[in-house]
Amino acid sequence: MSELWSEGYFTDVGYTYGYYREISPVFQRFCLLVRGYETNVTADAQHCELGFGQGVSVNIHAAANPGAYIATDFNPSHSAHANKLAVAAGSGAQLYDDSFEQLLERSDLPQFDSISLHGIWTWVSLENHKYIAEFARRYLKPGGIFYVSYNCFPGWSPAYPLRQLFALHDRYVASQSGVNQRVESALMFTKKLLAANPLYAKAVGNLDGRLDGMMKQDRNYLAHEYFNREWNCMYFSDVVDALAPAKLDYVATAVPLDNVNAVNISADGADFLNQIDHSILREQTRDYFVNQQFRKDLYLRGAVSLNPVEQRKKLLLTSFVLLQHVDKVSLSITGVLGKISLQEAIYKPLMAVLSDDNYSPKSLKNIMLSLPKIEYRMLLQALVVLVGMGAAAPCQSDAAARQVQKHCDSLNSYICDCSEFCGDIQALASPVIGAGVAVGRFQQLFLRSRKAGKKLPQEWAEYVWQVLVSQNQRLIKEGKTLETEEENLKELIKQAETFSSEQLPLLKALRVA
Ligand SMILES: C[S@@+](CC[C@H](N)C(=O)[O-])C[C@H]1O[C@@H](n2cnc3c(N)ncnc32)[C@H](O)[C@@H]1O
Repeated sequence: MSELWSEGYFTDVGYTYGYYREISPVFQRFCLLVRGYETNVTADAQHCELGFGQGVSVNIHAAANPGAYIATDFNPSHSAHANKLAVAAGSGAQLYDDSFEQLLERSDLPQFDSISLHGIWTWVSLENHKYIAEFARRYLKPGGIFYVSYNCFPGWSPAYPLRQLFALHDRYVASQSGVNQRVESALMFTKKLLAANPLYAKAVGNLDGRLDGMMKQDRNYLAHEYFNREWNCMYFSDVVDALAPAKLDYVATAVPLDNVNAVNISADGADFLNQIDHSILREQTRDYFVNQQFRKDLYLRGAVSLNPVEQRKKLLLTSFVLLQHVDKVSLSITGVLGKISLQEAIYKPLMAVLSDDNYSPKSLKNIMLSLPKIEYRMLLQALVVLVGMGAAAPCQSDAAARQVQKHCDSLNSYICDCSEFCGDIQALASPVIGAGVAVGRFQQLFLRSRKAGKKLPQEWAEYVWQVLVSQNQRLIKEGKTLETEEENLKELIKQAETFSSEQLPLLKALRVA
């Protein structure tokens, strides 16, 4: 029956359960502030997400941020799953199964402070682009934030014809079989085509590598990514044009590492870009230098730049927290230009300060007081890099964190309970950062056991082992199934001990544990 409502969108299997921090209001605020823009998201803010998939991100954000959430995904199974999480959290999030067109027709919607869509734009029709732009025109407040991510040119130009082959093969050959088979046979058809050396492959190069990369990915993900009727990859400047009727101005990237030219743009490239006055032409041209294939963009409805002194003042008041154990943070990053080492003289003392006092959040102002020899500009850049790497996160105010603690606890309990049966959701809500943190299935079960009063890693491991035994499951280590109880317990105890010494202190600071 889904063809009656699916508009050619792939609905034969549900979407994956990923969490995306880019939709977090706290993260968005930080990305905007780094680029010198203020946002006026208050405690009674209204947030909207379009196309929430299984609803992991929307529920984590609704639980972990003050304000109200309204969101939609037209797949009723997605919406049903997302609503279960919302009820468990008690966040009051209103999650519909309206299409974007239907949402536009509602008469009960407020004006929003933010509208976000992740992984939607490329996979819906041009008509839906118009509904989305019209939705923002009608419902986004002046000063409101609009977040959109999408596949783009020029990065996708070489492989665009591959996706066309998948879609055609699916349409003419495989559309009646099961999902796995459909995806598999389209991939094999394409692999054989490349093996027959078409001139296209010669002209483009490295298509085998690209296809091999795709072949390693989850089949449900591939189905949603490449087997929709619609696949509208676009240039950045075309998206700017499509959103112009909603009075949206492109202002910032939601990829913090994009702010670090040293890993992304050569000196010649940076010189070239600096000579371009027009901001849209400059940003579009940058995509040629980095061969951009996926963008995560933040727009404002009416961009008001902060003066540099105001910007600095707001950044100084922003607090940060580590998300990785201080000894586990990598001292190198990889950008378009390759790998660069981070300056130990800055990063080591910065991380030592961030890990002080059991990893409690620290404002940039206090970090500066602790590290008077490192100048503001260097510290800010280092924090942007740590956030970009996912090793740290910006925080919301303590008052906001306290306000949402209960909803986070309820949602996290529910997710940890579910981990008894499956490991689909691999993130929990942190009130401190107004966002999700990665926590795997076994670690969720360790938390559950700890909550049930078990104090020692050995006890947490035994608890997980009982869960696995009851479902006839075993651990897999380095591709090999661990068969005996002894082997499984030994590995679980090792994991529980690492959890206790490395992850638990962070989860306590993030008020997840
Ligand atoms: C690629 S998934 C991304 C989901 C989620 N944002 C994420 O990143 O995990 C796209 C989602 O958009 C939903 N969708 C597609 N077209 C839609 C439409 N016209 N109206 C509402 N939802 C739609 C699909 O059901 C699907 O869950």
